[in-house]
Amino acid sequence: MEVTRTFSIIKPDATRRNLTGAVTRMLEEAGLRVVASKRIHMSQDQAEGFYAVHRERPFFNDLVSFMISGPVVVQVLEGEDAVKRNRDIMGATNPDNAEPGTIRKELAESIEANSVHGSDSDENAATEIAYFFKEEEIVG
Ligand code: CMP
Repeated sequence: MEVTRTFSIIKPDATRRNLTGAVTRMLEEAGLRVVASKRIHMSQDQAEGFYAVHRERPFFNDLVSFMISGPVVVQVLEGEDAVKRNRDIMGATNPDNAEPGTIRKELAESIEANSVHGSDSDENAATEIAYFFKEEEIVG
């Protein structure tokens, strides 16, 4: 299986509850390696740009407000089939529907405050990584 990269955000509900380490540990135990990581407080423009594909969705404004409500940790993760591996350990978007043992089932508060974001395809992973990281900031 090919080693690929994905993009992850540890969201404000998780940083507020001091769960950066707990989330990262679950990612690492799932076979992913953190090859870039930084804690940032997103601006409104940055969050709106990141979630531009959801602009027409009814939850867009609340989503942006939530994502700028506190610090987040943006990460690049590397591993075999990284996008799928990350989505598997994250669990379903809504924690009520997530499998036991997944990050969202164990740690998330709600569909909005769902602790983590992960890219949904290799193509989106590349776009999302480039949105937050320069290539020289990624050290595998
Ligand atoms: P994320 O993977 O970050 O991508 C978009 C986010 O919108 C999603 O996770 C959810 O946290 C958030 N969201 C809030 N409300 C909804 C909803 N009703 N349906 C889907 N996603 C939602």
